[in-house]
Amino acid sequence: MSAPDRGAGRLKLAVQKSGRLTEHSTDLLVRCGLKFSRGKDQLVGYGENMPLDLLFVRDDDIPDLVEEDVCDLGLVGLNVVEEKRLELAARGHEVRFSVLRSLDFGRCRLAIAVPDDAPWQGVASLAGKRIATTYPYTLARYLEQNGIRADIVTLSGAVEIAPRLGRADAVCDLVSTGSTLVANRLREVTTVLESHAVLVRTPVALAPEKSEWVERLLMRIDGVQQVRESKYIMLHAPRSALPAIRKLLPGSESPTIIPLEGHPDRVAVHAVCRENVFWETLEKLKAAGASALLVLPVEKMLA
Ligand code: PRP
Ligand code: ZN
Repeated sequence: MSAPDRGAGRLKLAVQKSGRLTEHSTDLLVRCGLKFSRGKDQLVGYGENMPLDLLFVRDDDIPDLVEEDVCDLGLVGLNVVEEKRLELAARGHEVRFSVLRSLDFGRCRLAIAVPDDAPWQGVASLAGKRIATTYPYTLARYLEQNGIRADIVTLSGAVEIAPRLGRADAVCDLVSTGSTLVANRLREVTTVLESHAVLVRTPVALAPEKSEWVERLLMRIDGVQQVRESKYIMLHAPRSALPAIRKLLPGSESPTIIPLEGHPDRVAVHAVCRENVFWETLEKLKAAGASALLVLPVEKMLA
C-alpha cells in the first residue's frame, strides 16, 4: 500500500485515548470502513483508506480541540460536552462547535453517591455538604435547580476516594457499570445527567473535500447504527394470518410476501425489522400462525 497522504486535506477526528469510549469509538470507525495504523507514539491513527486521521487524546480535552478547530471532529461523551457548554456560558461565551449525531454507545450517567452508611432523605440531604466532582458546572446547575446550597470540591480525578480521605461528604461522578462506586463503598442516590457518546464538529467551515467526507462518514455511521438494531426475519404463514403477523413485526416497513409452491393458502414473509427481535415476539408470531421462523443479523444497510 502506498504511504498515506498526511497533508492538510485530511480530516482530524479526536477520540478518547484510554477509557470507556475508546474501544467503541474505534470499533464504530472500523465498521464505517476505516483502516488505520497507529503511529509509534500511539497518539495518532493514520487512516489508510480514507483521508481521515485519529488523534488519541484525553476525553475532557475533546470539546476544546474541536471548538478551537485543532480537530475537525470528535467522539466524546455528552457529559463532557454539557460541562463545556455550561463552563463557556458561565464565562459569557456561546458554544460554537456542534453536535452532529447522538451515538448508541457510551451510555452512563453523572450521579451523586454517598458513603454506604450515610443517611439519605432525598436531595435536601446535600444541603451544606461538600461534594467532590470533576463536573463542577453541571453539578452547580443541578444544585441550583434543586435549590440546594452545598460546597463543590472540584478535583481533576480520583473523585471516588475523596470521601475516604475526608475531603468530601459525597461525590458527583460518572457511573457506568457501578463497580467503581461499589469498590469505594459508595451508594448511588440520584442522577444528575444521563449521557451517551456524541459526534461533534468544528464551527469552522470545511474545505469541500473534507465536507464531502464528513457527509460520507455520517451516512455510514447512520447505517452502522441502524444495522446494530436491525434483524432480517423470515417465516412461513397462512395468508389469513398476515394482518396479525404484520402487526407483530417490530419496526418493519413493507415485508416481502412470497407464495409457497404447492400451498396456495400459505406464504413466506421476509422483513427487515429495525428493532431487535426478542423471543417474546417470536412466540407471539408462532401463536399467530407463523412457522419456520428464522432471524438473521443484518451486515450492512444503506437507505
Ligand atoms: C468514569 C468515572 C469512573 C468510572 C465509572 O471514568 O470517573 O471512574 O468511569 O465506571 P463504572 O461505573 O463502570 O465503574 P471515565 O471513563 O470517564 O474516565 P475519566 O474520568 O478518566 O475521564
Ligand atoms: Zn474524562
